Amino acid sequence: MKLRFLVSAGPTREYIDPVRFLSNPSSGKMGFAVAKEAVKRGYECVLVSGPVNLKPPKGCKFIPVVSAEDMYEAIVKEFPKCDVLIMTAAVSDFKPAKRLKQKEHKIAEKAVLELVRTKDILKGVAKEKGKRFVIGFAAETNDILASAKRKMFVKGLDMIVANDVSRSDAGFASEKLRAVFLFPDGKEERCGLVSKATVAKKLIEAAESASKKQ
Ligand code: CTP
Repeated sequence: MKLRFLVSAGPTREYIDPVRFLSNPSSGKMGFAVAKEAVKRGYECVLVSGPVNLKPPKGCKFIPVVSAEDMYEAIVKEFPKCDVLIMTAAVSDFKPAKRLKQKEHKIAEKAVLELVRTKDILKGVAKEKGKRFVIGFAAETNDILASAKRKMFVKGLDMIVANDVSRSDAGFASEKLRAVFLFPDGKEERCGLVSKATVAKKLIEAAESASKKQ
């Protein structure tokens, strides 16, 4: 079956004023590696990414976004056309309650920033997933497997990659990750410390084998 992949990557930026934003150090490498592997295997792929310093793989449709709201809109639009969603993006959970039109000067000694929640993209689209295979990522520093499992069930996913970002050799913006694949039936696959390209291959293979079972 010729699968159509939808992949999210990178961080989001939530602007406070025209020159300042809230974000995280996600490099986008994981999502770009997934898109590269999907294209290499001859699949259609749409890559939605927050701001990163990477060139999208040739052959995929690239949709650059900035904020969590932009990413939500792009994913919601593309989701009905895909067979597999792989959400590697580090989406900001909060955004400033208001975005100032002009740069804020440091007049006060203290400042309080009011934040509001962004939409949970994965949870929203997974409700309408039908036969699609939906994979999430959980970057965790503690209670890694328990937290990842909770997210898998709360968001209604077919698989989650638990990613231990507490150590300096793995996780955010590094070349490798310490990944454990978790499935709703209780199956666990520990990958150890592996490259993002290796994880990308395994994810595409998991999606391929799930599509064969249908
Ligand atoms: N995610 C999403 N929309 C958000 C936040 C997260 O789609 N607003 C997705 C991420 O892309 C990832 C998964 O949900 O695939 C888990 O993200 P993570 O940040 O680890 O968890 P949270 O949902 O933010 O949960 P918590 O705040 O409990 O860590």
